[in-house]
Amino acid sequence: MPDLTSNCAGIKSPNPFWLASAPPANSGAQIMRAFDAGWGGAVWKTLGQPIQNVSSRFGGLHYRGTKAIGFNNIELITDRPLETNFKEIYEVKKRYPDNAVIVSLMVETKEEWKDIIKRSIDAGADGLELNFGCPHGMCERGMGSAVGQEPTVNERITSWAVEYSTVPVLVKLTPNVGDIIPHGLAAQAGGGHGVSLINTIKSIIGVDLDNMVLQPQVDTLSTNGGYCGAAVKPIALHMVAQLARHAEFNLPISGIGGVSNWRDAVEFIALGSTSVQVCTEVMLRGYRVVEDMIEGLENFMEEKGYAKLDDLVGAAIPSYSEWGNLDMNYETVAKIDSESCIGCHLCVVACHDGAHQCIHANDDKSVFVPVVDESECVGCNLCQIVCPVPDCISMVEVDNGWDRATWNEHVAGTGKLRPKKGAH
Ligand SMILES: Cc1cc2nc3c(=O)[nH]c(=O)nc-3n(C[C@H](O)[C@H](O)[C@H](O)COP(=O)(O)O)c2cc1C
Ligand code: SF4
Ligand code: SF4
Repeated sequence: MPDLTSNCAGIKSPNPFWLASAPPANSGAQIMRAFDAGWGGAVWKTLGQPIQNVSSRFGGLHYRGTKAIGFNNIELITDRPLETNFKEIYEVKKRYPDNAVIVSLMVETKEEWKDIIKRSIDAGADGLELNFGCPHGMCERGMGSAVGQEPTVNERITSWAVEYSTVPVLVKLTPNVGDIIPHGLAAQAGGGHGVSLINTIKSIIGVDLDNMVLQPQVDTLSTNGGYCGAAVKPIALHMVAQLARHAEFNLPISGIGGVSNWRDAVEFIALGSTSVQVCTEVMLRGYRVVEDMIEGLENFMEEKGYAKLDDLVGAAIPSYSEWGNLDMNYETVAKIDSESCIGCHLCVVACHDGAHQCIHANDDKSVFVPVVDESECVGCNLCQIVCPVPDCISMVEVDNGWDRATWNEHVAGTGKLRPKKGAH
């Protein structure tokens, strides 16, 4: 049986799956139910001076029959008294000593940081997470992403937290920046023990066209919110991987953003995350989603021969390179499996209108399987992406006789590129 235990910046949990700081981790009773369901850890809903929320506050992006592939919120940090939260943290830790409880924090002054850190640790926190990411409401008050977007402020507040903390400090980064690297390095320079990312992406989820008001609506107005859920996974994976592969960055990472199932989680781990946090999927489907994550990760590790989580952390990072290092002479073409093809011709339309006009209807009208003109196919993958039948279109490597050559080698005069296809 593979060992799923995780040690993220010194915060240990029986598996790498943590609830992200959000409504599913709002109270002790919820977190205890989550631990019973199998979650390894939980990042408590951000504590600070309790706020008042607006109504309504969530929005969903529904796409072709699938509800909430993206999710947006204009909620702030905890609206519950600090004393109540600390009492519940104490209770949770007493009853679940082996699960990780990380307390997310967001306050303003140095004195406030000192005070809230002490109270969190006294209550039993295994770690702290500094919320430098919230992109609405709190940033207008000089906190959240207003801190996360300024490396010098990030570094300064991280160093305060590290000075006052006796438990590991994770810095939660905002994706609302052009380049994540300076922000990860600022957390490192401040002495942070790890980073977590991403928080939500500044967004407008949509407009109600009947009354011309942005969503989610608060009476006759609305505001920009934070985007998350399945749709943000590619952005989150990129930011996690960028930090994980950066030569000067060497902190552990807790990966967050659009994790909906065990595969998503494994992708985050393979790109450098030691723990994985989930919010939206739990909000939509409940704590039980962790069962699939644990079972899937366990089966995957067993099948692929990973004995412990650390063996898997960052396993895909060596494959992440610059565009200029890709082999320009590597070539694939689309092949259609005539046995499984249903003749829908979605690939024909896609290739004709969106690619290189090289999948055609068969000249013999009695044959519904289309034909790929391999001499014109540029191997772009579009037909495979639109084909509704699993494994019906495969992208097959062509032995074109050309040696490997990258763009960088070509520019340096050391590599010769094959003739272009489909560019006439
Ligand atoms: C309704 C809602 C409230 C949130 N509140 C917080 C918060 O208090 N503190 C925080 O650090 N992140 C907060 N987040 C962000 C999540 O912790 C997480 O970073 C983000 O949703 C991306 O993960 P996901 O795609 O799994 O939802 C909130 C997200 C949502 C949807
Ligand atoms: S891979 Fe691209 S170019 Fe080739 S057949 Fe498919 S859509 Fe057309
Ligand atoms: S999209 Fe797939 S199933 Fe449909 S015609 Fe093309 S190859 Fe066949």
